Amino acid sequence: MDRWRKELSKEIVWLTEKNLLRELIPHRPDSIDFSSNDYLSLNRNGVLKRIIQEYFQEYFQEAQQKGKRRELGGSTGSRLIRGHYHQFSSLEEYFAQSLALPSSLFFSTGYAANLGALQAILSPRSSVFCDQFCHSSILDGVRLSMAKKYYFHHNDLEDLQRKLKRRRILSRKKEDIWILTEAIFSMEGDSPDLPNICSLAEEFGAKVYLDEGHSLGLYQDGRGLSYELGLQDRIAVSVFPCGKGVGFTGALVCGPPELKSLLINRARSFIYSTAPPPWIASILERIFHYLFSSELESSRRHLHSLSVWARKLFQEEGFSTGKSTTHILPILLGSEEKTLSLAEECYKNGLDIRPIRPPTVPKGSSRLRLNLQAAHTREEVQKLCNVLKDSR
Ligand SMILES: Cc1ncc(COP(=O)(O)O)c(C=O)c1O
Repeated sequence: MDRWRKELSKEIVWLTEKNLLRELIPHRPDSIDFSSNDYLSLNRNGVLKRIIQEYFQEYFQEAQQKGKRRELGGSTGSRLIRGHYHQFSSLEEYFAQSLALPSSLFFSTGYAANLGALQAILSPRSSVFCDQFCHSSILDGVRLSMAKKYYFHHNDLEDLQRKLKRRRILSRKKEDIWILTEAIFSMEGDSPDLPNICSLAEEFGAKVYLDEGHSLGLYQDGRGLSYELGLQDRIAVSVFPCGKGVGFTGALVCGPPELKSLLINRARSFIYSTAPPPWIASILERIFHYLFSSELESSRRHLHSLSVWARKLFQEEGFSTGKSTTHILPILLGSEEKTLSLAEECYKNGLDIRPIRPPTVPKGSSRLRLNLQAAHTREEVQKLCNVLKDSR
């Protein structure tokens, strides 16, 4: 035991010396949040609180009127064993219908969704072409499936095409081929050329798997990027994590009805895990009613114009924002030390922007990730820019 603890300490010392040690920092309610994924400010401006309050008020009223207490607790089992409630089916039907998708299945988190879906649909006979910057939950799902994987350069369709061609020449058998990508990349803030990815997939007999975690709530009526582009029929599987723009929790995996049955039977993170409490599904469904309504149009418009303005501001002040085209703006700094010290300086000035370092991003590309949100004002962003400028 002592020897083991010494080995652990050695690892921690190493991480500290390299400026790579990560620690849990308590919530900072007094500083301006530039780090969370609450893109539409549904938490910051109290919308979620109101939706949750209304749900529980109605719930208890109904329970009183009907003279019986419905259970309000945990699901008490996995979905396949007594943990399935009508609230899950209602959420899944509403979500699929709203996005004009054939079916959806609710998972407890986005991580569990990618892990389970990819492990279930891929096999060692599959060949996977994965954008090099795909989220770790996608990479881990592929790993679990033991599929053959080929990384293509980030958003580089020429590289993808080259790799697909090479694979076709080398492989004699008809293969199960997948292209894996994201609608908005969480650390880069850019988007792939989705229509052309779909065309490449069709040319090479591949299927597209898309993670819409950072785009759900945005674009047309809040329904994400593939909906805005009208690509639903050309994407085999889409995953919608609900902890980002939706501001809540869970994730929906969408695709043909056969996919849903397969996931229920094969996705290990779905089968061997206690279902979330059923009221989570009811609240999430209410959030979607709000999210997909026109009420948020002005927030979406503001976020878009703020992003365009902020990108220009930081670039004009000599900061590199990479290839970002969205509300996620990486302020690329390179060194871990610099990134940590600037984050600290911001915090001293009441601004909460977190450092992102390897292994989350490649070596030499440490950054502060600026997550713009609908409630941000230009003054707040200007203040952030000034503090960074003065401390660099
Ligand atoms: C693209 C993407 N997919 C999936 C996830 C995981 O989602 P969750 O936080 O709900 O587990 C994240 C975020 O961490 C993400 O950025």
